[in-house]
Amino acid sequence: MVPAGLPQDAQRATPIHNTRMALLTILEYPDPRLRKVAAPVPAVTPEIRKLIRDMAETMYAAPGVGLAATQVDVHKRVIVMDLSEARDELRVYINPEIRSAEGEAECEEGCLSVPGYYDNVTRAARVHVRALNERGAAFEFDAEGLLAVCIQHEIDHLSGTMFVDHLSPLKRARLAARARKKQRLAG
Ligand code: NI
Repeated sequence: MVPAGLPQDAQRATPIHNTRMALLTILEYPDPRLRKVAAPVPAVTPEIRKLIRDMAETMYAAPGVGLAATQVDVHKRVIVMDLSEARDELRVYINPEIRSAEGEAECEEGCLSVPGYYDNVTRAARVHVRALNERGAAFEFDAEGLLAVCIQHEIDHLSGTMFVDHLSPLKRARLAARARKKQRLAG
């Protein structure tokens, strides 16, 4: 996810040169691979930990506040997020599940897979989430505010759902036309 109102390079992080990490390519709407349903992670292996490091570097470089594995064409239930201003509080969620949700809140959202587009989405105001951390230990927490919005946005990605799917049919049609135009210009 990308918070609204932030110019794309205003907070661009300094690239970290570390041979143990790699920048991954972020798929862009309407790429059909964004519609795949991600599989649960059976065990947190070194391969999963490498994926987490690469996803974190990709998210920081983009920059965004959240990234789901689906967006980098890895169809496993892994999310990274960092909502801190200093960009030093990495959150990792493996096999995240929303156990309960209540209330309604509207927030302007953006997505690294829909660059330059922001719109209001209504979601649950509060959610209770269960996930595994990067060591494979289960944890649970209550979320509200931006954390609740972001975790719902990223868990949606793991099911092949994007924030634009929550918009009106008219807005989605306009966005699809915009994406086709962009593809024509690029191709
Ligand atoms: Ni997104």
